[in-house]
This record gives sequence, C-alpha cells and structure tokens, in this order.
Amino acid sequence: MQKKLIGLSVLLVGSLSVMSLRTQPVEEAPAEKTYTQYCASCHGEKVEAFVDRQWKHGNSKAQILASITNGYPELGMPTWKETISAKEIEKLADLIVENLAGVEQYKFANKPTSNVFQSEGMRVELDTIATGFDSPWGFAQLPNLEYLISDRSGKLYLVDQKKNKTLVAGTPQVMSKGQGGLLDVVLHPQYASNGWVYMSYSKFKTDGGKTLTSTAIVRGKIKNNAWVESQEIFEALPYTQTFHHFGSRLAFDKKGMLFFSVGERGMEKVFPQALDNDNGKIHRMYDDGRIPADNPFAKSAHPSVYSYGQRNPQGLTLNPTTGAIWETEHGPRGGDEINIIQAGKNYGWPTITYGINYDGKPISAISKKEGMEQPISYWIPSIAPSGLTFVDSDKYPAWKGNLMVGSLRFNYLNRCVIKNNKVVKQEKVLVNLGRMRNVKMGVDGYLYVATENPGMVFRVRP
Ligand code: HEC
Repeated sequence: MQKKLIGLSVLLVGSLSVMSLRTQPVEEAPAEKTYTQYCASCHGEKVEAFVDRQWKHGNSKAQILASITNGYPELGMPTWKETISAKEIEKLADLIVENLAGVEQYKFANKPTSNVFQSEGMRVELDTIATGFDSPWGFAQLPNLEYLISDRSGKLYLVDQKKNKTLVAGTPQVMSKGQGGLLDVVLHPQYASNGWVYMSYSKFKTDGGKTLTSTAIVRGKIKNNAWVESQEIFEALPYTQTFHHFGSRLAFDKKGMLFFSVGERGMEKVFPQALDNDNGKIHRMYDDGRIPADNPFAKSAHPSVYSYGQRNPQGLTLNPTTGAIWETEHGPRGGDEINIIQAGKNYGWPTITYGINYDGKPISAISKKEGMEQPISYWIPSIAPSGLTFVDSDKYPAWKGNLMVGSLRFNYLNRCVIKNNKVVKQEKVLVNLGRMRNVKMGVDGYLYVATENPGMVFRVRP
C-alpha cells in the first residue's frame, strides 16, 4: 500500500516538474550514498576499505580527484566525469581523504623510552620474563609459577622465575615455514592432577615430492624436561600445499571442552563455506579428542566442527563472566573481527566481509547476509590481532573485565571495554612495544604479553 502511494506521488511530481527540471537546483546526494551507488561494487561496501589500499596513483586529494575524474579505463577503473558532477567527485575525494586520516592514529613515532606505560586509570610497568625467541606464540603458566612458552621455530621452553630457559626435549617435529611452526600451548583445566599439556602446530608430510601441511593438535606431559606420553588428538583435513592461515589457538571452556581454531589455509573459495573439510572452522572436542554427541555436525565426516566461515582465527579465549568462547580473526585488507562463537553458526567468510583484497580488489560487495553472523566488532584498517584474553584479576582494577587483543601490525596492545557483549570503548596501551603476538593471563593473576622481532615475553605489572 505504502509503495503504491509513493509510486503515485513520484509520478505526479515527475509530470509536474518535467518542465522546471533544468532550472531547479538538483539536490546533491551525500557522498556516502554516491559511493555506495557507484564505487562499492568494486572497492568494497565501506569507504574505509580505501584506508588499507596500496596506493598506485597517489592518495593526496588532488591525485584522488584525478583518479576518479579520468579513471584508468584500461585497468578497470571507469572514467566518472560524465556520470558524476565535479562537485560530487570532490565530495567523494574528501570522504576518502577523511577516512585516510583515521589511520594516523596508528602511526606511533617513538619507541618506548622506559618500561613504564600510562593507561587510562592505571600505570603499568613491564618486567622481562624471557628473551631470545623467534616468535613466542603460546604461553601458559604452571601451578609452580614456571612458564611454558612455545616458539614458532619449533621449540618448547620451560622458564623459571629466575628467567632460566630450558628446552623441552622430544616435542613433535613441526613445519616451521611461512606462518607455520609450533603454535599455541595451554594446560588442561585439571593440569595439577593430570599433567596434560596441549599444543597446536603445523604438521607436514610429503606426497610425490610435494610438501603438504595441516594444523594438528597434540597432548602430552612434561617429565624431566621431556615431552612424553604424546597423543595426537586432531589433524585438519585435507592437507594443503600452502604455508599460511593455520589459525591455531586453543581454549578450554568451563565444562572442560577443548575449543581450537583452524584457518582456511589461504583457500577461501574452497574451504570456509563448505562443511566437507576442517579448514576455516572452530572445533570442539572432549579433552581426549572424543566428539561430544551434541556437536552441531556430530554425525558428519568432520564431527569436531563447531562453527564455520572463519578466515584466520589467531585469538580464542574463554569469557570468564559469560562462559562463552570469544574469537578474533585476521581479515584481508581491513575487516579483522571479534566474534562470539556459537554452535553451528556461519561467520560468513568470504561471502561477507568488511575487508578488501590485498591487491585492492573487492572480495565481496556485501558485509551482511541473512544466516551469517555479524562480528561484534571489526577493525578497518586491519590491526592483525593475535592473542586474546579477558582480564579477570583484581590486580588491574581499571582493566578488570576488559578484553585484551594484541596487534601484530601496529605494535600495541588493544584494550576493549566490553558491555553486554559489545565493545563500547577501546584504548591503545603498550604503544609501539613491538609486534604483539600473544596476550594471556597467568595463574598468578598477572597479565603477560609476547612480542616478535625481538621475541620477548613480559609481565605487565600494575
Ligand atoms: C568497475 C570497477 C570499479 C568501479 C565501479 C570503481 N572503481 Fe575505482 N578503481 C578500480 C580499479 C580496478 C582501480 C585500480 C586501477 C589500477 O590498477 O591502476 C581503481 C582505482 C581507483 C583509485 C586510485 C587508487 C590508487 O591506487 O591510486 C581511486 C581513488 C578510485 N578507484 C576511486 C573510485 C571511486 C571514488 C569510485 C566510485 C565513483 C570508483 N573508484 C569506482 C575499479 C573500479
């Protein structure tokens, strides 16, 4: 009914105004609307996507104006001067420039000059726990307060309170190449009584001269500085020839179920939206690898799959307040996400995304779709989130309940204030410390962070 009425009035207005069209000022559309209409199909739904572009023709206002006005028709960028007025083109250029300014917030000129950092409501000091890692991927603190630290290079270390580093012998052989290697390490919730330690890593095999890789999960015990009673409880199938997007965080929930993430192995068109494989998924199993009968796809050939449509999830943690599992994943250029993982849900990659391709070409023109989950928050530009934890200790009154996310790309720790499962505020802390690989709570109630280049682990002391 309403549509008909509108249609009618448009007809009336249309016929009345035909004569005066030329003399009446044409109402200008807001730049966002022009963008959606003419640009989004190729450049992504969000103007912010331009932020993460590798600029080819320059990103000053004048250069952007020239690009839009004349285009590069032979390269697939249409000429717009016949379609869009000069004024609207200028507004589009302003809109893009405005969004670019948003990146400035991540440009930190100075390296920290001391180990003291000021945050809103709190001052923290960093104590060095251990150094000399390639990439300190995983971190767990034992009940005796020693640390277990996995290095992507393939080595597992025990570090005592005097910073002595001891190599744990006999850990599985890993494919340490590209993004692969020895990845996460966590303790069984009843570690004190059963001694189980869980690790994720890049497993490999050779087939007809080709090296094939997968994400695998193993559990074992540490006795006399050696890895013993090793049991592989999972390997992601199928193997691929790629060396990236292993995913690979581990987290136990309050019921003692083991959750872990597997990346889509760089094959977004093949794996994440299909349920005939383990890649681009979050998985759930019992601590010994058995499949819970109420897993959403328990009767399928990939029964550990718990959710799908994931890209490269390098953050996974239990929300100690709600009991839910929270996840972060890397988007492409832009579109890194925070998700709350729910059974059987599709998180959309690559059908929906807030990011664009590394070459600046779109992946998808849509960021929302019926039947696919929206992230609870996303980042444009990409901060490259790795490691994720809730601060649940009274040692940090101003941070208690906050979600901490490490930024590999911009070298800082991202503090998210959460209310009703929403990110209501963010702050950059430990600014410019280094490529932030991991952030974890220790059993001693302290927060720990790990950086790459150089590979170090720090205690964040209030
Ligand atoms: C049909 C697809 C398509 C549409 C629609 C399109 N573009 Fe482009 N655009 C491209 C391609 C492809 C390039 C890269 C050309 C090259 O490789 O040099 C590009 C390049 C650009 C550049 C230069 C980027 C650089 O790296 O220097 C700007 C600015 C730009 N587009 C803005 C727009 C705006 C604004 C609109 C909407 C009015 C738009 N484009 C619509 C495909 C498109």
